[in-house]
Amino acid sequence: MMIDILPIRTQRSTTSRLAELDPKLEFGKVYSDHMFVVDFHNGEWQEAQILPFGDMVVSPANSALHYGQAIFEGMKAYHQADGGVALFRPSDNWARFNASAERMCMPHIPEELFMQGLLELLRLDTAWVPTATGSSLYIRPFMFATDGFIGVRPSESYRFMIFTSPVGLYYNKALRVRFEQKYVRSAEGGAGFAKNAGNYGAAMYPTKLAQAEGYNQLIWTDASEHQYVEESGTMNAVFVIDGRVVTPALSTSILDGITRRSVLQLARDMGLVVEERKVSSREIMEALAAGKLEEAFGVGTAATIAPIATIGYEGQDYHLPEVAPNAFSKRVGAALDAIRSGEGADVHNWMVRV
Ligand code: COI
Repeated sequence: MMIDILPIRTQRSTTSRLAELDPKLEFGKVYSDHMFVVDFHNGEWQEAQILPFGDMVVSPANSALHYGQAIFEGMKAYHQADGGVALFRPSDNWARFNASAERMCMPHIPEELFMQGLLELLRLDTAWVPTATGSSLYIRPFMFATDGFIGVRPSESYRFMIFTSPVGLYYNKALRVRFEQKYVRSAEGGAGFAKNAGNYGAAMYPTKLAQAEGYNQLIWTDASEHQYVEESGTMNAVFVIDGRVVTPALSTSILDGITRRSVLQLARDMGLVVEERKVSSREIMEALAAGKLEEAFGVGTAATIAPIATIGYEGQDYHLPEVAPNAFSKRVGAALDAIRSGEGADVHNWMVRV
C-alpha cells in the first residue's frame, strides 16, 4: 500500500543528554535525544511526529498491558569509515515487523512510513552513533495496542514508535549455556517466529533458573520431544560440525533472524556447506565427544556473534575447544564488521546510507 506521508512534525529537544553518555555503552541503558511516534486509529495511520525522548501516558486499561499485543524489532546503524552512517538490512526488519504484526492481529506499517521515520530520526540524532570499534546505534522500532478496553479482542488503535540507544558489545566473554529440557520458548503453531513481547517475558523465568546455576543463557529445545535445538537465549544457534555450518531450519517456533540469514549467506559465499535442518542435543553432544564440534555460537542483532564455551547437558558441563583464530565464527564476524563499517565490499547491498 502506498501512503502519502505528511512532513513529520518535529519538536526538537532543547538540551542534549549526549555529553552525559558513559563511554562504556552498557546495552539498553541510555536513549538518544529523540523518538519517532505515529498513532493508528479509525483504520489509518495519523500524523507522524518526532519528539524529545520521554515518558508517555497510557490508560491503565491499555490492552497491550493486559493481553500482550506488543511487537518490536532490533536493528542497528553503524558509523562508516568515511564518516557517514548506514543501516544494516532495514527492509528486512520492516518485513519481519509486519510478519509479527500479522500474527498478533495488528495493522501493517507501510514501508515508506517505517523508513522515513527511521531516517529522519537518525539524521536528527546522528551524533549519537558511536564510533568505537564494535559499537553501534541500536534501534528499537515497536508497536503496541492503545485501546483502553479490557474486553479480549484485537485493539482498534495502536502506537508505532522508534527510539535508539548507543551500544557496545552485548556479551564480553564466551558463553556458558545449557540445554533446556523442561520449559519451552515456543511450540510449532505458536508465535515463536514473531518478535512479540510475550515471547521474551515468558523466557525470563527458565533463563533465571539457568543463571542461578551459573549459565548465561539456555539452548531452547522443541516443545514436543525436548530434543531438537530451537534457539539460544534471544539468539539463533549455529554449530560448526566437521567443517559444515549447521543450524536449525526455520519454523513457526523459531525467529527468522537477520543476522542468522546474513551469516548463512556469508558462509555460502565462503564456499562452506550450510545445513538448515533439525539438530538434536544428542547430535551436538556426540559431535563434542568425538572432537567434531568445532564451534557453537549464537547470532543476533544485539549480540552479533556470541561464541559458546561451555554446554550443560543432563547435569554435566562440557567444554568446547578454544576458538581458533581462523575459525568460521571469527571469519564471518570480521566479514560482517567490514560490511557494516563500510570498509569491506557490500556485495549483497545490505547497507542503506542515512
Ligand atoms: C536483538 O538481537 O535485537 C534482540 O531481539 C535481542 C534483544 C531482545 C536484546
